[in-house]
Amino acid sequence: MPTDRTPAGTRPYVLISAAISLDGYLDDTSNQRLRLSNPDDFDRVDAVRADCDAILVGATTIRRDNPRLLIASPTRRAHRAAQGRPEHPTKITLTTKGLDPSLAFFTTAGDKIVYCPQPALPALEKELADVADVTTTGNPLDLGLILDDLAGRGIRTLMVEGGGTIHTQFLTQDLVDEIHLAIAPFFVGEPGAPRFVGHGTFPHNPARRMHIAEVRQIGDIALVRYLAAHRR
Ligand SMILES: NC(=O)c1ccc[n+]([C@@H]2O[C@H](COP(=O)([O-])OP(=O)(O)OC[C@H]3O[C@@H](n4cnc5c(N)ncnc54)[C@H](OP(=O)(O)O)[C@@H]3O)[C@@H](O)[C@H]2O)c1
Repeated sequence: MPTDRTPAGTRPYVLISAAISLDGYLDDTSNQRLRLSNPDDFDRVDAVRADCDAILVGATTIRRDNPRLLIASPTRRAHRAAQGRPEHPTKITLTTKGLDPSLAFFTTAGDKIVYCPQPALPALEKELADVADVTTTGNPLDLGLILDDLAGRGIRTLMVEGGGTIHTQFLTQDLVDEIHLAIAPFFVGEPGAPRFVGHGTFPHNPARRMHIAEVRQIGDIALVRYLAAHRR
C-alpha cells in the first residue's frame, strides 16, 4: 500500500475492491450471499485489508451480508500489532436509515465510525453511540469531507468494499486512486441485482482512461488492478 504517497494529514489513499460477475454484477437477487470469489482470492483480499487503515461499506451491504470486516490471518494481525497498529482496520459505514447494533459490523473487533447526514444524527446517536462513533459531514454527506475527517483520525489508506451505490459516489466524485476487480467466470443476468456501479458521470471516460497496474490469474478469478489517471 503506497503510504509514502499519503503523508499524515492528507486525504487517505482510496482503493475500491470488488468481486464481479462477467456481466458486472456484485451479487444476485437471492437471499444467499453470492460466492463470486475463490479461497485464494479471499486470502488476497485479506492481505489487502491487512495493509489498510480502514474499510468502508454501505449500509445495504451490512444489512444484507452482515460482514465482520476483520483480518482473518493471525499472522497478518500479529504483523499489524508488531507495527503498533490495531489488529483490525477501522470499520466505516454511511447510512441515513440506521443499522441494528447487533449486526456483526458492530459486535466484532475494530473501531467503528458511522457517517450520516446531519438531520439523521440525533436519532442515530441515540441508536448507535454505544457501539460506534456516529458523526456527520453535512446534509447531504460530503465524501470529500469524510476523507478529510478520516485523515484527521490518522487514516492514510481506505479500502472501499461496496456496494455499488458507494462505488458510484466515490468514482463519480473522482475520489478513487485504485480499483481491484476480481472477475468471476460466470454471468448473473438478473436486472434487479446490484451492479459494480450505477449510472453517473465518471471522470474516467474514453478521453481519460485508467491505467492497468496488474493483471493476475488466481485460480478461476482474473484480478485486474487499475490506477486512476492521476496516479500514473
Ligand atoms: N461482490 C462484492 O465484492 C460486493 C462487495 C460489497 C457488497 N456487495 C453487494 O452489494 C449489494 C449492496 O449494494 P448497494 O449498492 O445496494 O448498497 P450499498 O452501497 O452497500 O449501500 C447503500 C446504502 O448506504 C447508505 N449510503 C450510501 N451513500 C450514502 C450517503 N451519501 N449518505 C448517506 N447514506 C449513504 C444508504 O443507507 P440507508 O439505506 O441507511 O440510507 C444506502 O441505501 C449487496 O447485495 C452486497 O452483497 C458485493
